[in-house]
Amino acid sequence: MQSVAFLGVTTLALVQAMSAPPKEEGMKKKARPGTDVATYDHLDPLSYDLSLDTYSETIDLSLYEELYDYGDLAPKVDVGTLGPPAKSLEGFLSTRAVPTEAPTWPPLKTPMAKPGKLLGSMSKQGLPTCLVCVCLSTSVYCDDADLEEIPPLPLETTYLYARFNRIGRIRAGDFAGLKKLKRIDLTSNFLSCVDQDSFWLLTSLQELLIAENRLTALPALPSSIVRLDARFNRIQTSGLRPEAFRELKKLQFLHLSDNQLDYIPVPLPEGLRSLHLQNNNIQILHEDTFCDSQDHHHVRWALEDIRLDGNPINLSLFPNAYICLPRLPTGLFY
Ligand SMILES: *[C@@H]1O[C@H](CO)[C@@H](O)[C@H](O)[C@H]1NC(C)=O
Repeated sequence: MQSVAFLGVTTLALVQAMSAPPKEEGMKKKARPGTDVATYDHLDPLSYDLSLDTYSETIDLSLYEELYDYGDLAPKVDVGTLGPPAKSLEGFLSTRAVPTEAPTWPPLKTPMAKPGKLLGSMSKQGLPTCLVCVCLSTSVYCDDADLEEIPPLPLETTYLYARFNRIGRIRAGDFAGLKKLKRIDLTSNFLSCVDQDSFWLLTSLQELLIAENRLTALPALPSSIVRLDARFNRIQTSGLRPEAFRELKKLQFLHLSDNQLDYIPVPLPEGLRSLHLQNNNIQILHEDTFCDSQDHHHVRWALEDIRLDGNPINLSLFPNAYICLPRLPTGLFY
């Protein structure tokens, strides 16, 4: 009798043990580093800066992919977002090559920002985005694809790369409902017009990269933004809303070099680490541009990288403007 009971217990334990591993495996996967927003905190600031500097030169996205995307591949994709589960990787890795079968997007399961709208003028064949671009997991790669407008994107899109195209305008609806978008890279396009509502409802957006365009004004940004790169545009001071950056508490990298700004946009959020304003038309600073002239204990620890070179300003004239800074700005102290 006792031995039977013992047997029962061992069997039970065995069954439990057999059902246990998948659970643990699942947890391990979740705990993999670099699968979430938290990676920002783990990144060595220097290496992040380095990758920023080389960013536009290298098309190598492997660093970012490793940090952000690949961890998502297995389980999340199956939720019927970008393609049918049975197809596995093959389904997500469609290229610009002519497809051998019909598009693999069940319309009901993969709603688009602009339902039913295909690429229209961009692709003569009217192919859906993932057949013209490359969709890998939740990233959409549309670099150098002759696009003239933002293509309709799967709702799950987290990273959009559409560099080196001829996109001239962003309409308010282009990114509507894309709540998971973390990065939009539209470097080197023909952008001259961005509807004010285009970005500020994107509550996950951390990086907006719109360097090398023709913008004269900046659109409103969501408070989630960490990095704005709008270098090499035609942005004037009148193109910035008053106190445009005050409420952007997460903003760390503000790169507005090679524009036509007359003033440093104030107030700057306290978390800002890098302010690039070289090659603008800045001629004057105020005591309160960086520091709080009323509070002499205020130290702006984060802001270590200010570039003001290439502006018609004599930085020696404003000694009181730097007292709270850990490092002096780069520029001419005549
Ligand atoms: C810049 O300002 C410093 C400090 O007032 C002054 O000594 C210097 O002559 C100025 N240089 C020019 C080129 O105006």
